[in-house]
Amino acid sequence: MFSPLVLLSFWLISLARAQSSPPTNLPPVDPGAFTAEASILINATVEKVWGVLTDFPSYAEWNPFVRSQVVTSEFLVPTSSQEPVEGHRLIIWSQIPPLTPPVNANSFANPLNTRITIENITHVQPDLGRVAWKLFGSPDAILSAERWSAVSAFQDEDGIEWAFYESREVFSGGLAALVGTLQGEGLQQGFDAQAQAMKVRAEGL
Ligand SMILES: *[C@@H]1O[C@H](CO)[C@@H](O)[C@H](O)[C@H]1NC(C)=O
Ligand SMILES: *[C@@H]1O[C@H](CO)[C@@H](O)[C@H](O)[C@H]1NC(C)=O
Repeated sequence: MFSPLVLLSFWLISLARAQSSPPTNLPPVDPGAFTAEASILINATVEKVWGVLTDFPSYAEWNPFVRSQVVTSEFLVPTSSQEPVEGHRLIIWSQIPPLTPPVNANSFANPLNTRITIENITHVQPDLGRVAWKLFGSPDAILSAERWSAVSAFQDEDGIEWAFYESREVFSGGLAALVGTLQGEGLQQGFDAQAQAMKVRAEGL
């Protein structure tokens, strides 16, 4: 048996650990059938990481998961600015599982692992460092998937400033469990690979 003192010190240590991990900047959402998510501390400014996150035309140069992400009007015509705008669409070509990093604009996609989706840009919140897009054209009862991403400032216990990148996609609806079974692991690998590669990209800029 542990003495109360030992238990108290365990509790204090776990409290200290909990406090030194960055608080989330993602909004709370209902849990779905499964979730893919990743987060990482990046040694760069929030502005720089936000720039990497929202510079979709450059994704091919570094992102092993999302190989192309094109902003379009609601009629699927690419916009000239390519900046995320609420209510615009995104056409996304992803690799599930992701390519082996590092990648560049000439890396070959694996056609068997290519997934193309159309999304609606649901939230663009530069002041909060948040952006979200949601699977378009599928009734929520069948398959609903909204991907939130956030970049926030974090100061660790040594006083060092970091950018904290987080991304999370919750899948719900009747088909979500099947998608999770077929692609959940590959999607999770994609989220991890994108977070790692975003760190390399932002720290190298
Ligand atoms: C962060 O990057 C700077 C250079 O930009 C470097 O001097 C510093 O040591 C890095 N900090 C950590 C914790 O890696
Ligand atoms: C797309 O997102 C915008 C912004 O949240 C919303 O107003 C609009 O209704 C959405 N469009 C569709 C078709 O879901």
